[in-house]
Parts: sequence; C-alpha cells; structure tokens
Amino acid sequence: MNAFQVKNTHYSLTTPLYYVNDLPHVGSAYTTIAADVIARYQRMQGKSVLFITGSDEHGQKIQRTAEALERTPQEHCDQVVAGFQVLWQLLGIHYDRFIRTTDPRHASIVQEFFQRVWDNGDIYLSQQQGWYCVSCEEFKEPRDLLEGHYCPIHTNRQAEWRDEENYFFRLSRYQEQLEDLYQKRPNFIQPEIRRNEVISFVSQGLQDFSISRINLDWGFPVPADPSHTLYVWFDALLGYVTALLEPDQAPTLENALAKWWPINLHLIGKDILRFHAVYWPAMLLSAGLPVPDQVFGHGFLTKDGQKMGKTLGNVLDPFDLVKRYGSDAVRYYFLKEIEFGRDGDFSETRFVNILNADLANDLGNLLNRTLKMVHKYCGSSIPVPVKTNLLSTNPLQDLGQQLGDRVAAAYQSLAFSEACEAALSLARMGNRYIDEQAPWTRYKQGQQQEVEEILYTVLESVRLAAYLLSPITPQISSAIYRQLGFSIDFNEQSSIYLLAPFPEHSRWGFLPFEQQLGEPQPVFQRLELPNSDRL
Ligand code: MSP
Repeated sequence: MNAFQVKNTHYSLTTPLYYVNDLPHVGSAYTTIAADVIARYQRMQGKSVLFITGSDEHGQKIQRTAEALERTPQEHCDQVVAGFQVLWQLLGIHYDRFIRTTDPRHASIVQEFFQRVWDNGDIYLSQQQGWYCVSCEEFKEPRDLLEGHYCPIHTNRQAEWRDEENYFFRLSRYQEQLEDLYQKRPNFIQPEIRRNEVISFVSQGLQDFSISRINLDWGFPVPADPSHTLYVWFDALLGYVTALLEPDQAPTLENALAKWWPINLHLIGKDILRFHAVYWPAMLLSAGLPVPDQVFGHGFLTKDGQKMGKTLGNVLDPFDLVKRYGSDAVRYYFLKEIEFGRDGDFSETRFVNILNADLANDLGNLLNRTLKMVHKYCGSSIPVPVKTNLLSTNPLQDLGQQLGDRVAAAYQSLAFSEACEAALSLARMGNRYIDEQAPWTRYKQGQQQEVEEILYTVLESVRLAAYLLSPITPQISSAIYRQLGFSIDFNEQSSIYLLAPFPEHSRWGFLPFEQQLGEPQPVFQRLELPNSDRL
C-alpha cells in the first residue's frame, strides 16, 4: 500500500488535551461527544480510526491548584484524570488513545521536536513583558482585558503582570507561509467564520511568542537551558504526536509520525483556535513536518442564555446530566439542538421537550406501535411486502432512498444537527403515513397485502432512521435493531466492522424479509422535568 492509500483508509482525530485542574465541565464533554460521533461514523465507513483524547497536565494553573489542595501536582493529576475517564465511559466515548502529557515518553518527543526547532534557528532568548492569565495560560493584549485587568474568559480572575526573560519562538518568520496555507487549503480552518477570524488576526502581523517560563517547576525543563521550564502550550500540542506511538514503540518522532500523521482533524472550541491554527502549524513548519488536514473550532455553550461560570453558580455538571438522563439523551441534545460551529444554549425544559418529542414519540413510539401491529396482524416476523396497486407511490420509500447519502454528507461536513433532522424526518413521515393508511381498518377489510406493505415500509423507516442516528445514539439504535431481530450492538467495535461499509445498511430496503422480530418494548423512556422546573 502506498502512503496515499494508507491515508485514505485511515482516519485520525483529536479532542483538545484537557486541563486537569478540575473535573471535566460540559464544554469538554461537548467537544468529546462530537469527536466520538465522528470516530463512530468513520468506523462505520470502514475506516481504520485513531481517536485521541487526553489530559494537559503541566503549567502554573495545575501547579497552583494542586498546592491549594495540598497535593503534589502528580497526585492531583492522577485523581482528576480518573474522573475524566469515568465521565467518558458514562457518555459512551470510545477513544483509542488517552494521552497524558506526564507520560514519560512524551518528554522524549518534546525534546526531539524542540531540538529541530532550535536547530532551525527559531528559538531565542529575550525579555517578556505583559499581562498573563494563568487560567488561560496565555499572555493577553491590554486591549483584550476587562477593567482592572480581569480576563474576558475567566471574568473572576485578574491577569498578572510579568516582566521576565523567556525563550521565544520566531512565529513572525512564518507569516507568509501561514497565509499561503490558509489560501491554498481553504478547509484547513473550519467553519468559515473561524477561518476569517484567523486570517484577519494573521494579517495584522504575527509576533513571536514566549515558550518558556521561569519560577515554575511543573513542566519540562527547556532542553537548551534547564533553568527555564517549557511553556505548557508548547508541550501540550506535542501531546497529539506522542499519542500516535504504539504502546511498545520507542518514543521517537519518526516512529510517532509513521502511520497516522498528518492528523485528519483537530476538534477544538473556538477559544483555543489561535493555538491550533496559527502557533501549531508554524511550529510544525519550523520542525519540517506536514501540518494537519483540518482544525475545526466549535462554538460555546451557555445555560439559559447566560455564560456559565462558578461565580454565577450556573455551571452545568455533565456527570449529573448523564446520570439523570442517560448518555444518548445528552449526546442527542447537544448535537441536534446546536448547529455545530455556532454558539448554543442549554435549557433543561428544552432538553426534556426535545428528547420526548424526537426520541420517545417520533422514533420510539412509532417502532412500538408498528411492532405491536405486526405481531397482531402478521405474526412475529417481518412481513414480505408485495407491491400493491393501491400503494403505487410510497412517500417513505421516496424519502428513504436518498436519505443515506444526505446523512453521510451531513456527517462528513460535521453538520450533526442536519443529520439528526434528516433521520427524524423519516420517522415523522412514518407516523403520518401510518395514520393516513390506517392498517387497522384495512386489516378489518381483509386487505392483508396492503397491511403487510404498509407495516414493512414503516419498520424499514424506523430501522434506517436508527442506523443513521447510531453514531449519536448508539444505545437507542441498538435497542431498535434488536427489536427488529438483528444481533448488532452499535457499541461493539466488532459489530460495527461487520456493518461497514456504511452504504449497505444506509440503503433503503435493507430490512430482511421474514426476520424474526423481538418483543416490543419502549426504547426511550419519556423524561420528566425535576419538580422545581415544572410550571
Ligand atoms: N489544555 C488546553 C488544550 C490543549 S490542546 C493541546 C485547554 N484545555 S481546556 O480544558 O480548557 O479545554 C477545554 C475545551 O472545552 C476547549 O475546547 C474549550 O473550547 C471547550 N470549552 C470550554 N468552555 C466551553 C463552553 N462553555 N462551551 C463549549 N466549549 C467550551 O484549553
């Protein structure tokens, strides 16, 4: 196989490597759910997938948090990382690698990479003066700060004045090459609004940025001068490379980059776009390495229309949400309700209403009532449709025949909300169709063939909708498939590989005739609002 073929059959993607100062918040859950959906979709396409997530453990923010809790930084990180892994499990996240930047192999990768950049003459010592937000781990322009030097993202934290000697990375040298990259590869930064932001930022002129800190122990010593500690972002971005090593491979850049590089997709929130779309490609260019295919910056979540924050006391706890409503519900809400790439809101009332309308009623109920009718009118196996004159045109079939391609295109462009809408439109049409066709009346009139055709068509619509939603709602889709008589679990990697390639199951008419059906059972329990939220 040549390199192009390998690339075409392989797909690698990353979430950010999360800070472990605290347990994961809903923003980290949002990015990770979206990444998991992409990974599942790509696996269903028959690709070999490497889905990377992990933790960013160095730097002042973690060091200070650990000190305040009277733990060593490593103890603190170990505890919080365990919490992340629990949440990912609760949310049904099937990652392939969890990279921790305290992994000893990471030190070797960072050292080798630093050396390449150093040898290229892109690192020099100079004086750094400016306002530093420890929570962002970033120097801020005075014009970007709020009054009293408060950070616009962490509004309860003041940026700190720094005036110290640091090592700098010669970012300014890469201005032209970056502009060229953005022009030649319009998909490198997506969505468009983020691409424009970056292009405008870069066009104002790039300044070198400091990549070392003094008075900080928790991090890697700068290889050329161990009295300095490497800036946490320089080390963190390289975590994406260390993650590519096979468990037993020697930690060299050559090994790490051999199979999966360049990464197909870095999925991030819009606040860390500059690091991924400007600093990171420049660092890679300096080290003589190819840049990733795409950086996608999604929007920010608010709660009931307000920015979330500890001081506001309105932080949405993802553990609590998933424990109360289940993982499919949480996954579905965020991806269906918010257009991916834009900011979006969480409201518990809306959450409950959407899930009840879409999953409990439109999809779940349709399956339940149709299965009951099949058991009553046709026995316990899937009816064999015979095309009757009466039903010469079938709207479900017309919609179903083009749905697989439409939904695949939506997943491909990360338009999750569109994928959900399209799949749901088939279920909604199924409900209307069964009401109009009234198989219960036809049965009484002895129109057995028409009844069988109607019921087959509706069951096939539910199957197709369930399949197309399965990257987002794997548990519900598996339950639906089971009741339709398949022994396929969308959470089992091995069954997913059996399903590949995507076109097979996404084709209208795949439901096998006479397959033995399961017992009808609700696939999604209606949700109730907690008492205090009811009107
Ligand atoms: N450690 C860095 C990333 C290094 S990657 C090499 C970091 N970590 S983080 O824990 O702060 O990342 C948080 C992620 O969650 C980011 O993608 C960020 O955009 C996202 N969100 C944080 N708050 C958010 C919302 N309110 N809404 C949506 N996403 C948000 O940055």
